[in-house]
Amino acid sequence: MPENTHRVRIRDYPADVRRFANLERLSHAAAAYVLAAMETTLETRDRFSLVLAGGSSPLRLYELFADTYRARMPWAHVHLFWGDDRYVPRGHPDSNQGAAYDAFISQAPIPAEQVHAMPTKIAPPAQAAEVYEETIRRFFGGGPPAFDLVLLGLGTDGHTASLFPHLHPEQHLQQPDAPWVQAVEAPPGVEPRQRLTLTLPALNHARRALFLVSGTSKRDAVHTVLRTPDPTLPAAYVHPQDELVWYVDDAAWGDD
Ligand code: 6PG
Repeated sequence: MPENTHRVRIRDYPADVRRFANLERLSHAAAAYVLAAMETTLETRDRFSLVLAGGSSPLRLYELFADTYRARMPWAHVHLFWGDDRYVPRGHPDSNQGAAYDAFISQAPIPAEQVHAMPTKIAPPAQAAEVYEETIRRFFGGGPPAFDLVLLGLGTDGHTASLFPHLHPEQHLQQPDAPWVQAVEAPPGVEPRQRLTLTLPALNHARRALFLVSGTSKRDAVHTVLRTPDPTLPAAYVHPQDELVWYVDDAAWGDD
């Protein structure tokens, strides 16, 4: 187990938490984690499905994909998906897919047909959610959405992807036929409000999930999810099939 790593249980699910001095070191370690997961997976399979997180925390990691680690990325075998996106065109400053294209996709030798962005121009949003769900179903040949790795951020309110507390996303975990993609509205004041998001059943069918959390604004959410019994914030319900890892910088962890 790498240094600065300790095992916790989140709603009785084991997770490895690794602390870093700052976001730069966290991002390089996250790149190493992604590359190692790709290397292991591609020993026995010919493609790696990576779900990208939105927001600002993963942007340095994305830049590293296209520069420092570009030559080590197995681009021909990588398929990109998104855990959520704001319901705006790719060129909009709030677009998660737009941010990822700017950070690395537009500079990387990844075949365009391997980039599966959320269709944020199909109206109504509920139909766009169905279209993306069909994209996922087709990719996995009708089986469960066993993404090889899901990258996730953490909101100050404990949301992840666009699964906000007021939506009670955990309810989907009790529904056998729950959707994998949902059109949702962020709480008032969180703009853009209209979003598309993977649901917890979709996230939890993944093999691995890696949270990237940075900054003092996340301290309360980190403490609640990682350091209190039976947390009920949405991020606490992410339980992938094989491995759950949290990368947290010292600013987000606080002083213990
Ligand atoms: C989004 C994200 C969201 C994000 C958190 C953290 O579309 O906003 O998917 O879940 O990961 O809000 O955002 P920051 O990394 O910008 O703090």
